[in-house]
Amino acid sequence: MGKKVTVVGAGFYGSTTAQRLAEYDVFDTVVITDIVEGKPAGLALDLNQSRAIEGFETKVVGVTTGPNGEGYESIEGSDVVVITAGLPRKPGMSRMDLLETNAKIVRQVAENVAKYAPNAVVIVVSNPLDEMTALAQLATQFPKNRVLGQAGMLDTARFSNFVAEALNVPVASVRTLTLGSHGDTMVPVPSKSTVNGKPLREAMPAEQIEELVVKTRNGGAEVVALLKTGSAYYAPSAAAARMAKAVAEDSGEVMPVCAWVDGEYGISGVYLGVEAEIGAEGVKRVVETDLDADERASLLEAAEAVRAKQGDISSM
Ligand SMILES: NC(=O)c1ccc[n+]([C@@H]2O[C@H](COP(=O)([O-])OP(=O)(O)OC[C@H]3O[C@@H](n4cnc5c(N)ncnc54)[C@H](O)[C@@H]3O)[C@@H](O)[C@H]2O)c1
Repeated sequence: MGKKVTVVGAGFYGSTTAQRLAEYDVFDTVVITDIVEGKPAGLALDLNQSRAIEGFETKVVGVTTGPNGEGYESIEGSDVVVITAGLPRKPGMSRMDLLETNAKIVRQVAENVAKYAPNAVVIVVSNPLDEMTALAQLATQFPKNRVLGQAGMLDTARFSNFVAEALNVPVASVRTLTLGSHGDTMVPVPSKSTVNGKPLREAMPAEQIEELVVKTRNGGAEVVALLKTGSAYYAPSAAAARMAKAVAEDSGEVMPVCAWVDGEYGISGVYLGVEAEIGAEGVKRVVETDLDADERASLLEAAEAVRAKQGDISSM
């Protein structure tokens, strides 16, 4: 059976995700939805007209959804649903400033996903990421392994890019890792970061690593400040699309994602940025990696910070 993926929200993040997913040419169908009349259909027409040039057979379907779930029947049979619906940040805003507005949107979307695509793996990207992932699980009542969030892939990619630029080496020679939350308590992991297979700590001084860590933590805000009218989408959509592809192909790839943690690192009962094996059932397994004492302490701190926030979402 051919694979089907749905992208909810046809803004910058959603439309670029749909484009990447279509161009992979591994899905039969990419459905893109939004509440804005005509926009998803227009994007679908445009994307389908690029098929002859880019050489992919995936068909893109654009659907406008209504306040009472109208249009959601189009997502039936989706193997994966990527939720991008919700407001992005404006300059000066933190991701947490989006909490209440986006909680209403994500809850409504997630309830419809549960109704119309009850077997899908849900990948959440709406911000604040860790809280919206927890909310989507609550609203769908899906098993926790079938609901995950995208943040770590992006934060890691940003960190790798900054390291490659600073050392003037190919980005492919750099491996980095970030765990924790998609926010102030992001935990970069220099002890697991390498350049040409050698520890990052041997490639640059500690102060420079710290500078790049700060730059990574502020990576999203830096883009928001320059764009002025929205937030980043090229790197974010690359991250979400790769996760959706790993699910569709049941690849078992290990990726940094926001996943339900149940005992790993001595942490339980919280959605947190960790490495996990991704496949057809979503998170196959959380992969616990060796951390040094500082990194482990920061991860525990991040877990407590997001636990406190995630506790509030049940009433939203
Ligand atoms: N996790 C990450 O790493 C990451 C990175 C970048 C952006 N984001 C987040 O992704 C979200 C989307 O960003 P964007 O740049 O695409 O914003 P955008 O404003 O371009 O698009 C958001 C879209 O969602 C739609 N929408 C609103 N309510 C909806 C609903 N109920 N059903 C379907 N669609 C609905 C809007 O009409 C709009 O088209 C934001 O919350 C942003 O903060 C997350």
